Amino acid sequence: MAQTKAAITGVHGYVPDYVLTNQELETMVDTNDEWITSRTGIKERRILKGEGKGTSVMATEAVKGLLEKTNTTADEIDLIICATITPDMTFPATANVVAANIGATNAFGYDISAACSGFIYGLTTGSKFIESGLYKKVIVIGGDKMSSIIDYTDRATCIIFGDGAGAVMLEPTESDNCIVDSIHRSDGKGAEFLRMKAGGSQYPATHETVDNREHVVYQDGATVFKFAVTNMADIAAQIMERNDLSAENVDWLVPHQANKRIIDATANRMGLTEEKVMMNIERYGNTTAGTLPLLLWDYESRLKAGDNLVLAAFGGGFTWGSVYLKWAYNA
Ligand code: UT7
Repeated sequence: MAQTKAAITGVHGYVPDYVLTNQELETMVDTNDEWITSRTGIKERRILKGEGKGTSVMATEAVKGLLEKTNTTADEIDLIICATITPDMTFPATANVVAANIGATNAFGYDISAACSGFIYGLTTGSKFIESGLYKKVIVIGGDKMSSIIDYTDRATCIIFGDGAGAVMLEPTESDNCIVDSIHRSDGKGAEFLRMKAGGSQYPATHETVDNREHVVYQDGATVFKFAVTNMADIAAQIMERNDLSAENVDWLVPHQANKRIIDATANRMGLTEEKVMMNIERYGNTTAGTLPLLLWDYESRLKAGDNLVLAAFGGGFTWGSVYLKWAYNA
């Protein structure tokens, strides 16, 4: 009997309406459009406005669209995995909030905290549930409301991040158009360079942690940049080698959208030309766990069954990894 494998059978995304442009950022911090564009590739990002609106608002919209597109009812869903570092609350998990919002009464769910690599960690984990043969419909969400943990007086971080969420459906297949391979890594020593210090059990919220701006992202950008360039390029090259993929037979690189220069370095290392690299950083910035499903959503209409996709990400933790999959359907 052929082995059961997991295929992505649909993708949908959601970005909020509010557009925060480089020009508006110029009025907030000492920066300029030319610096941001040349150093990062970002022109604008989306921001979720409104009191009491968390990541689940965007994730729910993405999942509702996904159910509609894949002709799935909420009660058919077995599992919802939500990759996010900006959950609505510390607990319950945002996956549970989304399940309740859509009425997925037969599903269990949990969150994955792996920052920018969260979606690929979720994709691998979700695919293993499908491969077990016990689960038929698994939703993997990647989404973050980064604006909730950004200091808009810190020009080193506020220009990069944005809000958004995307989701994919995983279902069993016996075809070769499936999630083929994955390599994941993490290194906790990276916490020194990219973290949000307070709000967890080590430093719970106090007036002092708020006054010291410890509930926002701290990033040593240049150090993270160096690790990102090396590790993302290395792991993408590694997955190509392990699967006998040459630059010619990779159809698409689906890279985490942190900085255009990191994306270019990864593509160069893989020997790929620009036409094969998915990119939307200019419109959304870095939506952390949201970048990869949002890319798949944006490029869905150009994907064909059998296309070879290499996903690659690097982020807070440090966490990084790569997934090789063969796209399963024609849009
Ligand atoms: O997704 C999670 C993982 N994160 C990443 O992968 C991000 C990795 N890092 C980066 O993308 C880049 O390091 C940044 C975009 C964050 C910064 O770019 P950089 O080229 O590494 O700049 P830098 O931090 O080395 O700063 C260069 C100069 C400094 O001025 P001096 O000291 O040379 O006079 C900064 O003060 O640019 C200055 N600068 C700015 N100038 C205008 C820093 N931020 C800004 C700004 N506008 N927003």
